[in-house]
Amino acid sequence: MEFGFSEEQRMLQDVARRIAREKIAPSAEYHDRTGEFPLENIRALGENGLMGIEVPAEYGGAAMDTVAYVLAMIEIAAADAAHSTILSVNNSLFCNGILSFGTEAQKQKYVRDIAEGREIGAFALTESQSGSDATAMRCRAIRQDDGSFLVNGKKSWITSGPVARYIVLFAVTDPGQGARGITAFLIDTAREGFHRGKTEPKMGIRASATCEIEFTDYRVRPDEVLGAEGQGFKIAMGVLDAGRIGIASQAIGIARAAYEATIAYVKERKAFGQPIGAFQMTQAKIADMKCKLDAALLLTLRAAWLKSQGQRFSTEASVAKLTASEAAMWITHQALQIHGGMGYSKELPVERYFRDAKITEIYEGTSEIQRLVIARNETGLR
Ligand code: CAA
Repeated sequence: MEFGFSEEQRMLQDVARRIAREKIAPSAEYHDRTGEFPLENIRALGENGLMGIEVPAEYGGAAMDTVAYVLAMIEIAAADAAHSTILSVNNSLFCNGILSFGTEAQKQKYVRDIAEGREIGAFALTESQSGSDATAMRCRAIRQDDGSFLVNGKKSWITSGPVARYIVLFAVTDPGQGARGITAFLIDTAREGFHRGKTEPKMGIRASATCEIEFTDYRVRPDEVLGAEGQGFKIAMGVLDAGRIGIASQAIGIARAAYEATIAYVKERKAFGQPIGAFQMTQAKIADMKCKLDAALLLTLRAAWLKSQGQRFSTEASVAKLTASEAAMWITHQALQIHGGMGYSKELPVERYFRDAKITEIYEGTSEIQRLVIARNETGLR
């Protein structure tokens, strides 16, 4: 068993840490307050290989493994969670899906611009009435005589929707077939029939733009179908398995930032004549924070390692996401409590960590869905 990282993994971690400290952290408060999309920083991340970490070099990526992706995500999320959301959708949900299921021409056309940070990608599965129950989607794609599809319908909660050039879309092609009646399509948002709707006013990850999108007679050419017709749900589930490793990493980054802020604060802040870190009640919280953080990190690296080895990792990805997201919520909650009034104030980033942590228990499968996936896989029962 090997607990060390390779030289390449450490190098990517260093690059991510440098950009996080020099470019992202200084403007994190501004981006949170204004909700402005950090396009310039995203371009810088792309130029340094961070928008296509696992993408082979021939498609413009850094050609690294999933462990490197985890390390980079943690550094970016520790500086600002919203940046890591954009990074995770480009890497996990967009590039990963096309690399796994796309044709050579699709990889050439769609992956390079996203991996190099010139364009933004998005993933459109959710609808207003179908979140956890993804097969309940209504967005419809009807095959035409010439082999193209006409798409009509709406999608909700599309991360990077307001700025995305390309989107992996899931729509019903065969109603009545449930999961087997869903197909994945590659959408160019510059084309006729694509519209952007209302932007979500979110509690956290505010600089990661999120909106509704709508299709009215949007025509998808046959070469823009991703994978086989009817394979869309499996593609979505496979992509989300990988995505959950990214969200686990994001949760660890947020939690680490809150933890480090807390360690510094408890040594400096005094009450009743001593640093508050000397009180046993604070020490117990610090110890529990540390245990949860380490457990989340090791479980996430395990899932990443399995994926990099080409082994099954669906259960381990859900275990990692569930553990890390609940750890992040708990750790940021305790960090805020230990900071007292200062934790509740916008003068410090602790309240932002708390708001940002919450989304990791919701998107890419709620904690309830992670428990369902883990228990189904473990028992074989459903
Ligand atoms: N990999 C590959 N195939 C899978 C799979 C996986 N991990 N999980 C299920 N499948 C396959 C099944 O084998 C089955 O195939 P067959 O029809 O051939 O048997 C098919 O998919 C249907 O599976 P289920 O019957 O298990 O499907 P279900 O309707 O019971 O749903 C679920 C399962 C786990 C609840 C799933 O719907 C799910 O994960 N829901 C959560 C959706 C989600 O995570 N949404 C997040 C939105 S995206 C987002 O958040 C992005 C963002 O903005 C950042």
